[in-house]
Amino acid sequence: MNTCERSLIIMKPDALQRNLLGEIIGRFERKGLQIVGLKMMRLDDVLLDAHYAHHKEKPFFGELTSFMKSSPVVIMAVRGADAIRGVRIIVGATKGSEADCGSIRGDLAMSTQNLVHASDSIENGELEIARFFRADELFEYKKIDFEIVYGTGK
Ligand code: PPS
Repeated sequence: MNTCERSLIIMKPDALQRNLLGEIIGRFERKGLQIVGLKMMRLDDVLLDAHYAHHKEKPFFGELTSFMKSSPVVIMAVRGADAIRGVRIIVGATKGSEADCGSIRGDLAMSTQNLVHASDSIENGELEIARFFRADELFEYKKIDFEIVYGTGK
């Protein structure tokens, strides 16, 4: 199997308010990703300033952070071969109305209230997981279906 990567998924306030948590978690599970961390939390400005530091100068920064604080979020760390790329494909393009059918945003969202955040690189996956989870909230365990899901990794 190829080297496993880890991605941070944030199920945003609209996912919680629209009762889509089960639907979204199920899509990642069915794809073959291993859940290694899962919790509900409220995001504050300290965490959001760090998480969205590269968007601080963008005109939508205030709108984005207000939205992310509007209710609790559910965060998840997932693991799998090529997980960063695979997860981004499942999530879809930023704006829901422009995202491909079959993706979470394409099927379920219409705007930048786009249900899910996912890490955009291997490095950011590790950084974001460390930012949002304590070490004792992350789990290592054998996933018994991995050999069937991934085969030899080809
Ligand atoms: S992405 O998802 O990183 O590839 O897209 P990007 O365009 O770089 O967007 C970065 C994050 O900002 C959010 N975003 C917005 N929020 C509110 N209003 C507007 N107009 C807007 N445009 C982009 C977008 O959903 C990304 O958030 P995350 O949490 O990373 O998905």
